[in-house]
Amino acid sequence: MLAIQMRGITKRFGPVLANDRIDFSLEQGEIHALLGENGAGKTTLMRILYGLYHADQGEILVDGHLAHIPSPKEAITLGIGMVAQHFTLVPPLSVAENVVLGYTKGLRFDPGAAQQHVAEAAARFGIKTDPAAIVRHLSVGECQRVEILKALYRNVRALIMDEPTSVLVPQEVDVLFETLERLRGAGLSVIFISHKLNEVMAVCDRITVLRQGRVVGTVDKAATSQIELACMMVGRETFGVTRRGESPQGEARLRLESLSALDRKGLPALKEVSLEVRAGEILGLAGVSGNGQAELARVLAGTLKPTGGRILVDNRDLTGADPTCFLVAGVGRIPEERHESMIGELSVAENLVLECLDEFTRNGLLDRRRVRQHGEQLIAEYQIKAQPTDRMRTLSGGNVQKVVLARALSSKPRVILASQPTRGLDVGATEYVRDKLLEQRDQGVAVLLISEDLDEALALSDRIAVIYEGRIMGVIPAGEASKEQLGMMMSGAWEVTRGETEN
Ligand SMILES: Nc1ncnc2c1ncn2[C@@H]1O[C@H](COP(=O)(O)OP(=O)(O)OP(=O)(O)O)[C@@H](O)[C@H]1O
Ligand SMILES: [Mg+2]
Repeated sequence: MLAIQMRGITKRFGPVLANDRIDFSLEQGEIHALLGENGAGKTTLMRILYGLYHADQGEILVDGHLAHIPSPKEAITLGIGMVAQHFTLVPPLSVAENVVLGYTKGLRFDPGAAQQHVAEAAARFGIKTDPAAIVRHLSVGECQRVEILKALYRNVRALIMDEPTSVLVPQEVDVLFETLERLRGAGLSVIFISHKLNEVMAVCDRITVLRQGRVVGTVDKAATSQIELACMMVGRETFGVTRRGESPQGEARLRLESLSALDRKGLPALKEVSLEVRAGEILGLAGVSGNGQAELARVLAGTLKPTGGRILVDNRDLTGADPTCFLVAGVGRIPEERHESMIGELSVAENLVLECLDEFTRNGLLDRRRVRQHGEQLIAEYQIKAQPTDRMRTLSGGNVQKVVLARALSSKPRVILASQPTRGLDVGATEYVRDKLLEQRDQGVAVLLISEDLDEALALSDRIAVIYEGRIMGVIPAGEASKEQLGMMMSGAWEVTRGETEN
């Protein structure tokens, strides 16, 4: 039996009230969702429960007893485990070694016994894994399963999962949900954080919604709806953002001609990709992740040299040019790894000028006053919840993405390359980002939108291209595309012939 109650939890970070007298309860054998906009305080609350942060006020009861949780070690002893957004596995070690690491019962490590223990634990919960596999070779979904096993191996009875699905492809999400249901069947409890309301409705029993550090309410899944949850999260009705107006027929701003490139392992990742993105249109590039999207983004950022073909921006050949040339030519980027494009230890204002340092440098010195003013202006314009002097690493996911957006758009790009621009964002922030992309389109910018979210691609794009194993399977006007057809193209089962694609 494990039931948890958090009462009156308050946590401040300087002036930010991240958790404001939060009451939260977890029953045994339930999957409980924690919902809320970026910065609502979800991760903070869970880090307190797992002993990573300490509450300023409030108490935690585990099975009715007051608990003191100074560290994750204490949390695990009490039966509380957490699978973080970023994994903590050791890549060169095997699955079995990772699972038992730091938790061996005897003095000596016995690989055979460890593998067997891990195989047993995996079988009990129906978790597919190969105990002998080396973690470095595993996919993200597989790593996540190892993290879950690691927690189960330590006999946790309540498992916290912070946005586990944000890193998974759809098929892996289904597998995860089966696992969660098995855990529930075995009497374990799960706290599940996600921004996707359909996921929450699919797998959870109860849902607690946070807004600006406070609990808005806890509802039963059976008694609520996605619309109600969205309203609770943002305090207003949300309206879907979709493309407006006719598709324009502007000139080709970005043209890819038979572009080929290799992946990190030296294997062909892009195979003679030809695409055109016109001024004033959003071209959606749909596809299951790992089919060349990441390489295409790198080639267009100038960080990966193509092995063949040409890249033209406004009819200028940029093939093989370095990153600065792409920026100067007006290619703005919203990269997939938003954290990698920011420097956590620098301030928000400094990060906002990272890509145009020259403009803010005089006689070799950074003009701090102008950097700060520029920061203040963009923070206001993009409604970023931060101060110009805040360290970048203290911002919540949605606010980081707003900084990325502000930086890319303030340089008045002619082409925008947006990779998974709304991944991990809440309803409000997603709507904001989509709206900004549409605004750019309406102002005549050519937008290449790389998205694994078909609904997003369909809602925003004028035309949709599908990439599969590094090849373009076809380009269809979004108005004529059906999800079924796109799905078949994404799985390589259907290719639109050249004649059909030209329009
Ligand atoms: N270590 C920290 N130092 C300073 N401020 C922090 C820290 N961690 C969180 N915050 C702030 O506390 C607030 C709540 O953040 P938290 O990460 O809990 O939000 P969240 O609901 O998990 O958001 P997201 O959906 O974006 O992950 C935010 O304003 C954030 O900037
Ligand atoms: Mg969070």
